[in-house]
Amino acid sequence: MNNLLDRVQSTMLMGAGPSSVAPSTYHAMSQPTLGHMDPYFIRIMDELMAGLRVLFGTENTLTIPLSGTGSLGMEASFVNLVEQGDKVLILQNGVFGVRMVEVATRLGAQVTELAFEWGTPADIEEVEKALRQDSFKIVAVVMAETSTGVLNPVKEIGELLKEDTLYIVDAVTAIGGMPIEADRWGVDVCYAGSQKCLSCPPGASPITFSPRAVEAIKKRKTKVPNWYVDMTLLTEYMSGGKRVYHHTPPINMMYGLYQAVLNILEEGPAKVFERHVKAHKHWVEQLGSLGWTLLVDEPYRLPMLNALVVPEGVDESALRSTLLGERHIEISAGLGALAGKIVRVGLMGYNAKIESVDRVVSAMRQI
Ligand SMILES: Cc1ncc(COP(=O)(O)O)c(C=O)c1O
Repeated sequence: MNNLLDRVQSTMLMGAGPSSVAPSTYHAMSQPTLGHMDPYFIRIMDELMAGLRVLFGTENTLTIPLSGTGSLGMEASFVNLVEQGDKVLILQNGVFGVRMVEVATRLGAQVTELAFEWGTPADIEEVEKALRQDSFKIVAVVMAETSTGVLNPVKEIGELLKEDTLYIVDAVTAIGGMPIEADRWGVDVCYAGSQKCLSCPPGASPITFSPRAVEAIKKRKTKVPNWYVDMTLLTEYMSGGKRVYHHTPPINMMYGLYQAVLNILEEGPAKVFERHVKAHKHWVEQLGSLGWTLLVDEPYRLPMLNALVVPEGVDESALRSTLLGERHIEISAGLGALAGKIVRVGLMGYNAKIESVDRVVSAMRQI
């Protein structure tokens, strides 16, 4: 084996994730690996879980980082709550809503998919109508749809739900980049990812379960059909007093996540969110001068994920490969139905700043 790692080029990650990692987070990840039952590691995990509660806007005891990527958070949400035949309403306006449908269907749920045009948010009146027509055990939505750059109205949807409906929200792209108020919005399960606005490498999925969701898991008639993310087992390991061995978490990944969360708390979450908005506004201004437009209408645009409509005559694939090959800047292609029609530029975490915007715009202008 030649050592290929000697030649990994540092790339400015300005796509849909992973985002560029903060130097302090790289440093944290290179600290000595401790045993997973080491009291000092347990202390780190306890503090990490407290920090995650702040970013999720929750007081839920069961708030932990799962050892896996954002999709594991999605699996864990559904696999713990869904039993065969349960009615689930999924609001779908992008690739990750489609993935939710796939995950819930595989578990034997009776899924109603309420689809909205990609690039537009879930329509609250349509949601209300669907909720009047049937009653659902679970309603699920992606807060920040990374495939389109749309912000869905999580709070407003929460207000429509009945007491006994469980509410699952995907916050993979939202966490650390915009306020999340899981408790105030009535969210029962919220999951996230490490590699977007937290500016940490991919590999951990923070997740939180409300007391109602924990109760629903306890009341299941059947065992959770997946051992790895069975919350009853993970609770005993991560947040119970007993710390019963379950699996060996990726220790250094958890150091990275710890540092990433600490970075946000030290800067101040409100300031971090404001920095994302400022970078986005600057981006929109600069974009106009390049003659590009955004896919999403202004009130529903995500600051951290900008979907740009590819102008007539521009070869978006050549643009992306020139940016990467010659300028070492990565931006992302469109996914699914939007492939070839949009490119996606992420202003996430460490790179949510004016200098980063200027560097990408200047490279795009020259190319
Ligand atoms: C909104 C959303 N949900 C879920 C996922 C899946 O996360 P991962 O790719 O980390 O498994 C992503 C990844 O981009 C995402 O953007």
